[in-house]
Amino acid sequence: MDLVHVTFTTAAGATQRVPARVGESLMLAAQRAGLDGIAADCGGCLSCATCHVYLPDDWAARLHAPDADEDAMLELTAAERRPGSRLACQIPITAALDGLQAQLPDRQY
Ligand code: FES
Repeated sequence: MDLVHVTFTTAAGATQRVPARVGESLMLAAQRAGLDGIAADCGGCLSCATCHVYLPDDWAARLHAPDADEDAMLELTAAERRPGSRLACQIPITAALDGLQAQLPDRQY
């Protein structure tokens, strides 16, 4: 499977299902789809923390834990950090992530 679909939900509850290519990051899939709500100012080099998303527990458990650098950047998100907080640029899309649900924070700045 080269293409999966992921669904983003805004803080206001609107949903948008977008295609994501296996191998790209969740952030790039969102940007390619023109999704509002992920700024990704640094382009994915882990220096802006404006690609913050919240993942439900069941999906977060299927991913590798944040590494030390992502964990440090998660302390700098504009919206509150929660247990499911991740930076979308650090989540590589795999076939196993088909159907992934991600919630957007109410702000990235
Ligand atoms: Fe900048 Fe993810 S895009 S940290």
